[in-house]
Amino acid sequence: MTPTETTAAAETAAVLLSKDENWWRQAVVYQIYPRSFADANGDGIGDLRGILSRVGHLRELGVDAVWLSPFYPSELADGGYDVADYRNVDPRIGTLEEFDELVAALHGAGIRVVVDIVPNHSSDRHEWFQAALAAAPGSPERARYVFRAGRGEHGELPPSDWRSIFGGSAWERVPDGQWYLHLFAPEQPDFDWSNREVRDDFLKTLRFWSDRGVDGFRVDVAHSLTKDLAEPLPSAAELAARPKDGSHPLWDRDDVHEIYAEWRRVFDEYDPPRTGVAEAWVAPERRPRYASREGLGQAFEFDLLMANFSAASFRRVVTDTLALVRRSGSSSTWVLSNHDEVRHATRYGLPPLKNDVAGLNGGDEKQGRAWILAGAPADGVDLAAGSRRARAATLFMLALPGAAYLYQGEELGLHEVGDLPDEARQDPTFFRSPGVDKGRDGCRVPLPWSAEGPSFGFGPGGAHLPQPAWFAEYAVDAEEGEADSSLHLYRRALRLRRELQGAEELSWLETGRDDVLAFERPGGWIAVTVFGTEPYALPASFAGRVVVASAPGVEADAAGGGAAPVVLPGESSAWIVRG
Ligand code: NOJ
Repeated sequence: MTPTETTAAAETAAVLLSKDENWWRQAVVYQIYPRSFADANGDGIGDLRGILSRVGHLRELGVDAVWLSPFYPSELADGGYDVADYRNVDPRIGTLEEFDELVAALHGAGIRVVVDIVPNHSSDRHEWFQAALAAAPGSPERARYVFRAGRGEHGELPPSDWRSIFGGSAWERVPDGQWYLHLFAPEQPDFDWSNREVRDDFLKTLRFWSDRGVDGFRVDVAHSLTKDLAEPLPSAAELAARPKDGSHPLWDRDDVHEIYAEWRRVFDEYDPPRTGVAEAWVAPERRPRYASREGLGQAFEFDLLMANFSAASFRRVVTDTLALVRRSGSSSTWVLSNHDEVRHATRYGLPPLKNDVAGLNGGDEKQGRAWILAGAPADGVDLAAGSRRARAATLFMLALPGAAYLYQGEELGLHEVGDLPDEARQDPTFFRSPGVDKGRDGCRVPLPWSAEGPSFGFGPGGAHLPQPAWFAEYAVDAEEGEADSSLHLYRRALRLRRELQGAEELSWLETGRDDVLAFERPGGWIAVTVFGTEPYALPASFAGRVVVASAPGVEADAAGGGAAPVVLPGESSAWIVRG
């Protein structure tokens, strides 16, 4: 195409994109953690120009949208989730002009853009927090955050014994003796959402990015924000005993939805309306409020991510989730990996949880936690089994009705980097545990684009977290040349998913085995997953074409057209199209 034709094609794609207001319902959304995706200027930190140079990869992969984790100015006390300026780009990552260029390029490639909004807390470098520190107790500047006097004769004790999510006290003392609340790191002071000024400023931020063409927002810790901080503050033990029924002082309060109703009115000022997806770690039955059309519109479903690779757990999660999304009128979101969790290729190589989230034993342990707390030992994980099950789980997940969220690098089948040297670690959970919890850096190591070259093609310089030698084998250019690679599996599955996607419905099929699940989507699209290790001969009732399979060789066998039934190896999945 000539440059004029390319521009015209990009403009047509952008116009087409603007028309569909339900684009998010069954979209494939690819999460980019900007500092670790691609680095154009060689400073070891990924940047917007780096992303721009890889739009072709995203288009070829076949994603519908990207979600950009925070790229805002930040001191990186929490990987960018400590935002110093909500309406700007970190100079190490780029400029606002480059952001506009990136949005235009993605839209031109038919890919929408979702940005991360972090409303529970800012960075301590935010001008409002700096102003609060400079101002006196009781001032309007302090009223944007949560400041309190301490306990004890001289106020030397924190206002309560609450612990921060990252470890240590949830209160930090400032020089004049007051304390401020931070549910996360001390560099992340919590806003006071009862303050109208805070609410208005976030509405301004939503409009700022929406005006620049952003299609939607991923809302960080969406179940926090509003708090009941009436004195006397309850103790940590009392807090833990409080029911999570909408009246808890800190989490998932009913009144948080007043905020999202206001946000919805802003979303609806745009055509098509901007979208929201809540990161809300709440009981499943409380999720529909976040996902309702009057609220953010969608909420992450993390139960699949927390479930063992087991037929009973997967079926239970899918059945329960689909019933819940019907109640909200939303669609589900499926996630197997993100920037906070042990990559699923590694997680599925760990021993199964006794108490997984499917509640089969009523438990809610997190997959991978115990391994990370044990120091991520290499001999504690079966990587080959993990990779095999991850491919199978991915095909299962991509066939479900609803949106699928992918995390950068999972298309390469990347494993968690468990053995980062302690000196290289950046995650506040590591520093505040201290050193006991290895943290989340292992899934944030910069991506390998080529088997050779400095930082495996991440950029012309180094990488801000060290990449292991085995990344060479997972590099994009290495996988390009291998027909059975994870990259080709993802590309093929995403292309087929686009062709096969129909109404948001699913019906379970009888498989004759407890460790095998099969479901059918409208139009004769069947997904079969063998969770056990015994091979499974596809029954005559599933007759059709095997269009993709997670285990190498299955498609070729099926295409052979012999009289014998197609056999799926243990721990594998296949999609079949009837007729
Ligand atoms: C959830 C984000 O996904 C995580 O990375 C971050 O540390 C916390 N929220 C605090 O912002």
